[in-house]
Amino acid sequence: MDHIQIAIDGPSGAGKSTVSKAIAKAMGIVYVDTGALYRTVGYYAREQGIAVNNAVAVVPYLDHIKIDVKYENGVQCVYLNGENLGDRIRQNEISMYASAVSAVPEVRAFLLDTQKKIAAENPVIMDGRDIGTVILPNAQVKIFLTASNEARARRRCIELVEKGMPVSYEEILADMNRRDEADRTRAVAPAVPADDAVIFDNSDMDFDTSVSGLLKLIKNTAAEKGIVLS
Ligand code: DC
Repeated sequence: MDHIQIAIDGPSGAGKSTVSKAIAKAMGIVYVDTGALYRTVGYYAREQGIAVNNAVAVVPYLDHIKIDVKYENGVQCVYLNGENLGDRIRQNEISMYASAVSAVPEVRAFLLDTQKKIAAENPVIMDGRDIGTVILPNAQVKIFLTASNEARARRRCIELVEKGMPVSYEEILADMNRRDEADRTRAVAPAVPADDAVIFDNSDMDFDTSVSGLLKLIKNTAAEKGIVLS
């Protein structure tokens, strides 16, 4: 591998996407949000009227799903059968669907190549749940980003309110705990740190401190491994 691959895993609301976007910008590399792919399959499942507790029912439909990832003005856009879904995949209900379909092995296999291809073709910082363990086991830098449940639920609430989708803190905290437990304990690609990942807890950090701490960690790790960052 002749370019940098940075894997950022961790539970929802730890700030993976916002800090990864800032790091990608600072380093001039591509940010890949893999959760958006599971959200897109989850969105499709809901569109088909599949119940969230019967996510396996999406498997026969996978042949009808075409997912394309494009970068438009530096922003990742995910197309489902030619349609850019935008923020529709961010709704709380779709978070639950995404978690449900992500436990189905056929769905994970379906999304594997798309993720590996982007990382093979570009220097990346890729966020998700199994990036360091399954998707990019040879990533030069692996970070497991986490924070307390309360800090994560608070941030997710603010994010959704800013997107014009107001929700209650209690509802988000309960859904988040349920989803994280399911993601952590599933049989395939459970959301756990890779053996060689660095755990980074940012409960008590603001955004800028988080980003500068992570950039330092990435630069130090790269230097230790003799990787030249452009
Ligand atoms: O990061 P997110 O909240 O957008 O992810 C939505 C769901 O997708 C999450 O509950 C778990 C799943 N997911 C996964 O299983 N593996 C990934 N690499 C990314 C997300």
